[in-house]
Amino acid sequence: MHQVVLIPGDGIGQEITESVKAVFSAAKVKINWIDAVAGMAGVDQYDDPLPEETLDLIKLYKIALKGPLTTPVGGGFRSVNVTLRKAFDLYCNIRPAFSIASVPTPFTLVDMVMFRENTQGLYIGQERWLNDEQTIAESKAVISRNASEKIIRAAFEYAKLHNRKKVTLVHKANILKLTTGLFLQVGKEIAALYPDIQFEDLIVDNMAMQMVIRPQRFDVVVTTNLFGDILSDLASGLVGGLGVTGSANIGTDYAIFEAVHGSAPDIAGQGKANPTAFLFSACMMLDYLGDAEKAEKIRQAILKALENKSVCTGDIGGKGTTSTFTGEVCRLVGK
Ligand code: NAI
Ligand code: MG
Repeated sequence: MHQVVLIPGDGIGQEITESVKAVFSAAKVKINWIDAVAGMAGVDQYDDPLPEETLDLIKLYKIALKGPLTTPVGGGFRSVNVTLRKAFDLYCNIRPAFSIASVPTPFTLVDMVMFRENTQGLYIGQERWLNDEQTIAESKAVISRNASEKIIRAAFEYAKLHNRKKVTLVHKANILKLTTGLFLQVGKEIAALYPDIQFEDLIVDNMAMQMVIRPQRFDVVVTTNLFGDILSDLASGLVGGLGVTGSANIGTDYAIFEAVHGSAPDIAGQGKANPTAFLFSACMMLDYLGDAEKAEKIRQAILKALENKSVCTGDIGGKGTTSTFTGEVCRLVGK
């Protein structure tokens, strides 16, 4: 029996969480969900967006499935996502983006897996005011050899294990010569240890353009935290949007699975949320738990359900709702 901490999260979190629970139940996955709260629900119940109780549960069970959490823009509390990734050293953020035949976009045959360093760089938000008037602000980016080695190695090991042909490292070492320069240097050293895997490096602005011109040329991609945040949303856009891309945050001892997308307040509570992304994240979790058979069964049911536009959500051109889609996946997976 798997034991997994379940954090529904904010906005569309509740709706997509119900979907995963229903599909897992229909697929007869042997799982015990341990309920926990974070984000706005944490503030409501414990006056804390990341309650100690939730941290203790993750420490105990080591694996969590987490819905999106709203982070206030500008002021307010620090991102709970960033805190969780740092607290459990979830250095490896894996974000696959692949074309789905029944979800048409201007791009076909995209199949890339992005590895984003998850604990360092500008994204961590180490900022301060440089004067009392608060008219000048500073942001600090720290990149270490150790953390770079871990994420780049993870990308190459993944490539080796899954018979992927190429690793592309994305950086801005022409301008940020020390921080992303170090990341690139480490990448070159590690690439030399994997002579059977092709290695290339691209500067991030060029990468953004190449991803739109010819995304099929990318296989495994590895990059620093903020670039990975932005480019993985871009990758989602190539294959149908944020409603269809799952993701995993993995460290040495802990793992937290979540979708690439956020809490989508614009569509929350309206039955418009596409649960596919969160379902794919939950399948990545099953793979991690060694339950690859159930993961594949659920994935196949999702792909089949995506062919039926009358049940799919509007973001991918469907006429249905979160629950009609969930119902169809449950029906297919229970067959
Ligand atoms: P978002 O990812 O929530 O939404 C961007 C756009 O994509 C919106 O138009 C939304 O309706 C759509 N969308 C997202 N997920 C969808 C789904 N499953 N089905 C259909 N449409 C979907 O990004 P936004 O609006 O910039 O951020 C909202 C909040 O989420 C912010 O507070 C942000 O900090 C937070 N956030 C949290 C993340 C996490 O918990 N890992 C990740 C990204 C953002
Ligand atoms: Mg993001």
